[in-house]
Amino acid sequence: MADTVGNLEAKDYGIGIPQKMPGFFLKGSGNLEWGMKDRLARIFNARSGNTVMLAFDHGYIMGPTSGLERMDLTIVPLIEYADCLMCTRGALRQIVPPASNKPISLRASAGSTVLTDLNDECLIGIEECARLNASMVAVMVAIGSQFEALTIRNLTTMVSDGTKYGIPVLGVTAVGKELTRDARYLGLASRVCAENGAHVVKTYYCTPDFEKVTATCPVPIVIAGGKKLAEAEALQMAYEAIDQGAAGVDMGRNVFQAEHPVAMIQAVRAVVHDGVKPAEALALYNELKNIKQ
Ligand code: 5RP
Repeated sequence: MADTVGNLEAKDYGIGIPQKMPGFFLKGSGNLEWGMKDRLARIFNARSGNTVMLAFDHGYIMGPTSGLERMDLTIVPLIEYADCLMCTRGALRQIVPPASNKPISLRASAGSTVLTDLNDECLIGIEECARLNASMVAVMVAIGSQFEALTIRNLTTMVSDGTKYGIPVLGVTAVGKELTRDARYLGLASRVCAENGAHVVKTYYCTPDFEKVTATCPVPIVIAGGKKLAEAEALQMAYEAIDQGAAGVDMGRNVFQAEHPVAMIQAVRAVVHDGVKPAEALALYNELKNIKQ
């Protein structure tokens, strides 16, 4: 079982054959109970099956990241355009208006920063997540790193705790400096999250073979945006990810560091929910950026 050499290479991906989804519109979620499904249905749009999550939890490891220096000025205007907000409990209480009524994907693991070894994390208690009305809780999982066992334990603990309250768990595949972002690694890391009970997986887009990552992950995948790209490239990446089976984006820097963030998030929405092609989405961005917000 634990042989690392001599295993047969995975090859039967069933690309193009959708995973059957009886009982609910999200893959792998049909056997969940009502509370879980209700929370997931707040995050994912039942028409498109997809979500645009706005990630602004970067400060918990990176401090005042560019674009997040004053979240009250930069993030609050974006909230109305997001399907879900991914943030820390600090940011939630400090700047997110409770009346904005958006589902929250709460960053529920923390413990180290970019100044030391990332991913040496512990968990926020599930009662605190319930108190904050989290629709999902996000746990970092650092496969292949020195903190692999610790972070998988965090994931399994949160899945067990979340199940008591009907709160789904987002497994976030961490990418350390030394880890490669290819389909083989991201596919392994995503599958490990799903097998350990994550209801949704957040990972990175890769090329080639991203469709193998989504095909072999039995729960929905949302992609992180990663470092800031030109707007055209970020829209292209979002399009390719959705086209190859992602169920949405959980994007941060490519939205809040865009020259025109409000226009950018709307262009991303067009790609994610309406399958708008990248060139058309860029034209939409250019049109919207000239409208005074
Ligand atoms: C950090 C995260 C971030 O939320 C994630 O990286 C998304 O932000 P970006 O699109 O800027 O990469 O999960 O671990």
